[in-house]
Amino acid sequence: MLRNSGCWDFHLVACFGIATLAAYATAISAAPPALPAEKQNALVAQYCGVCHSDAHPNGRLSFEHFDAADADPGVAAIMAAKLRTGALGASGQKLPDKATQDALFDALTAQAAGADKWVVNKGQGRILSASIVRELPSTDKEAHGIPDYYRLLVTCDTGKKAGNVELEWSPGVPKNGREMSAAVDGKPAFTWKVEGNETMGNGQAGTSGPGAVVLQVPVPDKTLTVTNLFPDETAVFPFAELEKKTRRQLAACFSARR
Ligand code: HEC
Repeated sequence: MLRNSGCWDFHLVACFGIATLAAYATAISAAPPALPAEKQNALVAQYCGVCHSDAHPNGRLSFEHFDAADADPGVAAIMAAKLRTGALGASGQKLPDKATQDALFDALTAQAAGADKWVVNKGQGRILSASIVRELPSTDKEAHGIPDYYRLLVTCDTGKKAGNVELEWSPGVPKNGREMSAAVDGKPAFTWKVEGNETMGNGQAGTSGPGAVVLQVPVPDKTLTVTNLFPDETAVFPFAELEKKTRRQLAACFSARR
């Protein structure tokens, strides 16, 4: 299972490496050689895809179709965050050399540019989505200065008029028993008790707390506020900044079932 710090105790080496990784992350001075997209895809498939597949998406996240050439900034942001707490070591395979590890981190960090603004995707057929990432200083001492990233993803199947609001977090893992609340435009709308465990997608022994949850909320006009997922952390998602037309289209998806 994962501790609050996001350390895998089935791979302690990764935990001990946190401070070093954090130091590396802040010390990207000399321009590192850029890692080609194919190489990034291969690394993600090898080290992450084993647990984040379509069939068993740990944290509700599959990297089976991950393409560094066309990466979603928010997904890249939460992936980079997990790299900082040793995710490359999670599968127990021999690690790539340090330069490659750093190059992957740098590449994902670059792809994460713009994740703090709404990313609207009208891509796949009838699926419309809008997502945004909020970065918060972690209140957990064991996080060693690594922030928590919250990604909110609103999707709508415009054909079926079926909508979904999902919250993902990285790299911290909330403790079982915590009661998280979500407020829509300032009004309490949804509470969720953190519970249950995720089994490892690659069949490896050990479990972890959950990495994502579906929020039973409508699309807000102004804000969605998430509190108490982690102690003293409040994430505010600015729906007022979402393009009006997109917000209307998404909202229509939700009113259909209410
Ligand atoms: C041994 C299995 C395993 C491997 C390998 C693995 N993960 Fe995960 N991952 C999990 C589990 C379990 C969770 C859910 C609990 C948590 O958040 O840690 C998770 C959660 C996540 C999350 C947060 C999920 C969300 O929706 O917010 C991200 C991001 C992530 N992993 C990225 C990665 C990346 C990047 C790699 C490869 C470098 C990787 N993982 C390798 C098991 C794994």
